[in-house]
Amino acid sequence: DKAISPSEDPVLLERADGIAWVTLNRPAKRNAISPPLVYRMVEVLAELESDDSVKVVVLTGAGNAFSAGMDLRDYFRATDGKPAEQMKLFRANALWQWKQLRFFAKPTIAMVNGYCFGGAFTPLISCDLAIASDDATFGLSEINWGIIPAGVVNRAVAQVMNERDAMYYVMTGEPFDGRKAARMGLVNESVPADQLRARVIELADILKKKNPTVLRTAKIAYRHAEDMSWEQANDYLMAKYDQAILHDPEKGRATAMSQFLDQKTFRPGLETYAR
Ligand code: ACO
Repeated sequence: DKAISPSEDPVLLERADGIAWVTLNRPAKRNAISPPLVYRMVEVLAELESDDSVKVVVLTGAGNAFSAGMDLRDYFRATDGKPAEQMKLFRANALWQWKQLRFFAKPTIAMVNGYCFGGAFTPLISCDLAIASDDATFGLSEINWGIIPAGVVNRAVAQVMNERDAMYYVMTGEPFDGRKAARMGLVNESVPADQLRARVIELADILKKKNPTVLRTAKIAYRHAEDMSWEQANDYLMAKYDQAILHDPEKGRATAMSQFLDQKTFRPGLETYAR
């Protein structure tokens, strides 16, 4: 049982069927993000990125929380007045929360099983996809304790939420549930708690069937293109299109084209080619 895990490791890592389950593991502290958790996540993500057995990464939390955000005691108060230590810690946090996760070489899914506050929004939004439990509790709670949503929280929120919703929650700090998060597009969907894991596995299984070279290039290209002008995006995306074809060891494009045009064995509008 994850809730009573005896492990002292702030991050649990399990691999099964091509999925790496990364579990923030400080359930007694609602998986608040402490310095050891930050430094461990940097290592875990680096390890998973180069592990060929891992096709999809799922980020979740132990117990009844995804993560209660940054640890007020160990991340904030403990580093107050120590600018060098703070800079090192905050930089490492940015590294795992968005520099590694947003551009991760494999698809990532946030499985939001419970509380998700403040600083936890950054890794949530950095994951490519997010599925929440209907009864998960989200909140941009920074305003409630006298800070603004910083790190890159305000920037990340602006990426996925519309301005009215974002400003409402940035300014009120009001909590909302998984259903509401899904309606606002903060997560892809919400499901009853007892179906959460099964739905995430189902989604991971879809991703596992895709050509990994093309999947990696598609998601990273999407991330970069969204910040470009149309002219730049066009040129950049065509270069990435060529890159994916060039780097693809399974020559997916040629195989799929032949299966559709010559053998007439699959329809790309409706399914993935036979790999
Ligand atoms: N930082 C440090 N400790 C935390 C945090 C946190 N973000 N969240 C929970 N904890 C600790 C509590 O201090 C408590 O520790 P203790 O048992 O040693 O006293 C333990 O986790 C359990 O917390 P409770 O409040 O007792 O648990 P409860 O289930 O009643 O409430 C809740 C959970 C709602 C998550 C509450 O703990 C809470 O509001 N946490 C803060 C959420 C938040 O605003 N996070 C900061 C966002 S801003 C940012 O991240 C930049």
